[in-house]
Amino acid sequence: LGRTAVMVESVDSTNSWLKERAEEGMAKDGTLVIAKVQTGGRGRLGRSFHSPEGGLYMSFFIRKPDTKMDTSLATIAAAVSARDAIHELCGIRPRLKWVNDVYMGDRKVGGILVEGKFDPVGKSMDHLVIGIGINVTTEGFPEELKDIASSIVNEAGIKISRSLLCARIADNLEKMLRKTIEDPEGLVEDYKGSLMYIGHEIAVHSGGNVRPARLVGVDRKGGLIVRYLDAEGTSVISSGEVTIRGG
Ligand code: BTN
Repeated sequence: LGRTAVMVESVDSTNSWLKERAEEGMAKDGTLVIAKVQTGGRGRLGRSFHSPEGGLYMSFFIRKPDTKMDTSLATIAAAVSARDAIHELCGIRPRLKWVNDVYMGDRKVGGILVEGKFDPVGKSMDHLVIGIGINVTTEGFPEELKDIASSIVNEAGIKISRSLLCARIADNLEKMLRKTIEDPEGLVEDYKGSLMYIGHEIAVHSGGNVRPARLVGVDRKGGLIVRYLDAEGTSVISSGEVTIRGG
């Protein structure tokens, strides 16, 4: 991964950049694109991702991923890779909030956005774009984010190098993507080890509804296992549908 690397000063979104190249047949498998600034950084569920200077904004292009690798497992592989890279460089192990958020303390310092394109003829994925954004030395967040977002420098008091972080993430991700195929249970166990709210009451937000539940775990496909307080048994939530908050 990352043997072809493209570095740009500013781009709307590194994920969009790769998706556009893919449409033109111009994206090579394993390509990594890194930007210093994103003017239209995107998050899950159509949200934006604040991307000023000081953050690491990177996306990988995976052509024809293994059919066993669905987007949830790719998200989990990327979250674990970012968690471990931050831990290796600053000594603090971030926690992960299902499915794609990287937390230090009580604030989000990063997120993952995996986007895929399905090939209806081959009946498999044509490609995946794995985007990772980490607030490294970002200081000063806009009013609406200052209570929920933070950066590694604010939480750990250390200015880690963006290029070292990028290299560690790429190395880790290569291993973790292999693990999605060779040992998905092991990968999910590893992810669960730093999952926030496990065993706790959470609020499951979906299309304007909020339902209280207890967070039980994660299944082997990366789905969130919950027990709704108003229902019998457990349910599995797949990514893309809902957001969860501490109850
Ligand atoms: C989220 O918070 O829901 C996910 C945020 C993902 C941000 C990264 S930054 C690099 C890549 N390009 C984007 O536009 N988004 C991802």
